[in-house]
Amino acid sequence: MTRAEELTELAGHFRQSGDTFKASPLYRALCEVVADDELTLELLLHRRPGQQPSFLLFGAVHHLLLSGVEHDLRDFYPSVVGTPARDPAAAGAVFLDFCRSYRTQVEELIATRLVQSNVVRRVLALRFALAALRDVVDGPVHLVEVGASAGLHLHVDRYRYRLGGRVFGSPDARVTVESEWRGDGPAPDLTHLPEIGSRTGVDLHPVDVLDPDQRRWLRALIWPEDRSAAGLLDAALEQAVAEPVRIIAGDAVDVCPDLGRQLPPGEARLVFHSATRMHVPAERRAAFDKAVDSIGDGGPLYHLWLEPAFAPHHGEGAEEGCLAWHGPESTRPVSLVRVDGHLRWMAPLNGAEPPRRAARKAA
Ligand SMILES: C[S@@+](CC[C@H](N)C(=O)[O-])C[C@H]1O[C@@H](n2cnc3c(N)ncnc32)[C@H](O)[C@@H]1O
Repeated sequence: MTRAEELTELAGHFRQSGDTFKASPLYRALCEVVADDELTLELLLHRRPGQQPSFLLFGAVHHLLLSGVEHDLRDFYPSVVGTPARDPAAAGAVFLDFCRSYRTQVEELIATRLVQSNVVRRVLALRFALAALRDVVDGPVHLVEVGASAGLHLHVDRYRYRLGGRVFGSPDARVTVESEWRGDGPAPDLTHLPEIGSRTGVDLHPVDVLDPDQRRWLRALIWPEDRSAAGLLDAALEQAVAEPVRIIAGDAVDVCPDLGRQLPPGEARLVFHSATRMHVPAERRAAFDKAVDSIGDGGPLYHLWLEPAFAPHHGEGAEEGCLAWHGPESTRPVSLVRVDGHLRWMAPLNGAEPPRRAARKAA
């Protein structure tokens, strides 16, 4: 692709990102302005392959502001000044000025960082699948998260949950994950889990939860208006400090085959990835799928994913807007439950089917 074609594609990306930033009036307003500014778009030519441009640019700028950089732009960020922040409609020119004034710093972050947003609420997806496995697996389940970032989902059994009116999980947890249940009936009961035999993350760059700069990068990837996600992230990071989990550094393509062989033969493994395959460059996705499958070489593999429709497992059409998985018998995707991508809500399939029944069918 030529440089001019890439800039055109980047401009289109920002123009079409309005839906992605439904929950961020600031980022929605900035998308329009960035799409028309070639000098700012050029910064993104330095990003690593597969990295989502708008998350990276907004993350880099937010990171600098959270680090204490003094510029008028800070007045538009609720995360920096608290509420009330200035009207996003007036932020465009100030944002472009920031990108010019701190061009070297923004470019360096874009060139070196990865989109590693660790969305704590997505742990509910893993909890849902684990609870379903309790009815179908004898013995322990080994958890593997591919694209684990700081590994915050691997503490799935250590959090407390509030889903609809139902409360379950660890009663004295430091982290409470809340989500809405959009169904006519009661929310599913996810209290009982199988024994967790081991927990392992895999990531290109495991986040060091003790490093303030790396923690700030995770914080910077949260939309500036979302104080609840920021509070949840802080609490989950404290949990990760208190009980560290193993995260293997490397590309899943290289790491997974060995990992599969290291797990106890014959025991079930649940492999989860969310918002990860979407960042794998298109030409590497078949190898990524093969590597995930290889974890099943030593024992029954349950593969669970939460990825956007354009990046489904093995290229097969998983149902849009659903958490999907497959068991050891077939790689055909089976939908478990309808979800929002950030797990702000869950809903039964077709508004009617009890999710637990769908889970048993899949296994
Ligand atoms: C957007 S974050 C999502 C983190 C977490 N799964 C979540 O949903 O909160 C994507 C993560 O995948 C990792 N990643 C991307 N490609 C990878 C690969 N080929 N192998 C291992 N990790 C990868 C990135 O480093 C990043 O930490």
